[in-house]
Amino acid sequence: MRTVYVNGDYLPETEATVSIFDRGFLMADGVYEVTSVLDGKLIDFEGHAVRLERSLKELDMTAPVTKDELLEIHRELVRVNEIDEGLIYLQITRGAPADRDFAFPDPDTTPSTIVLFTQNKPGLADSQAAKKGMKVISIDDLRWGRRDIKTVQLLYPSMGKMMAKKSDADDAWMVQDGFVTEGTSNNAYIVKGNKIITRALSNDILHGITRAAVLRFAREAQMEVEERNFTIDEAKEADEAFITSASTFVMPVVEIDGIAVGDGTPGRVAPRLREIYLDESRKAAV
Ligand code: PDD
Repeated sequence: MRTVYVNGDYLPETEATVSIFDRGFLMADGVYEVTSVLDGKLIDFEGHAVRLERSLKELDMTAPVTKDELLEIHRELVRVNEIDEGLIYLQITRGAPADRDFAFPDPDTTPSTIVLFTQNKPGLADSQAAKKGMKVISIDDLRWGRRDIKTVQLLYPSMGKMMAKKSDADDAWMVQDGFVTEGTSNNAYIVKGNKIITRALSNDILHGITRAAVLRFAREAQMEVEERNFTIDEAKEADEAFITSASTFVMPVVEIDGIAVGDGTPGRVAPRLREIYLDESRKAAV
């Protein structure tokens, strides 16, 4: 049984509760972060903490804990749940007012809700899926216009995953005005020659913490990076494709809409970036 964190308490998962009036539950009025754990240490914690602050600020929400307290809670959960490889999920909502109301409650009388739990994932780094590569389908991007805020409104991404599943694929890349935005829960990239191409940052995509690190490592390794829009057809004709996220690190994409990317294998650039990312982020883990 896991020990989880809820509003200041460490509790067995079966004893942790949140109000039925919580705005996270009623309105999807909340933000989240997913941080990976390797060797019992937190990967890119600083990046996730900074993005969390930004998400809260964009929604006029206040953080119920400081960054130092947040680090302490993450570490304590890793320790008590004996996580060597896995993930930590964190969610902060606008709390539980006395009744359902569209208007935001007064933060002085309705404190935000904070919940964290661990997910044990042995073999996260040495993943079979990364050796094989994944298949994606393309779908319309029907999400709202502030995808730069990491909110818990994940219904459309969940529907995208289900559409992928039905097509015998692993994930969906979303397309808006003819251009790929991102995957359901990851950033999307293609490789042409020695060039890594990924959509530039804007409100259209989540500003991936793994994306920032991978692009930095790529540039340091003298690889060329181009931040620009690309179409799904350009992706199908690319030499390689891949995704990044805290839960997959760097994962090759070998098929798009049933069409093999390159020779249909993970290729050269994505596996190398995965290796560099894992090496470097393990070194910097806290
Ligand atoms: N998802 N884009 C979207 C829409 C995401 O949901 C995520 C992360 C990313 C990658 O961001 P990062 O590198 O910071 O994890 C991009 C997490 C892993 C999730 O929802 O489980």
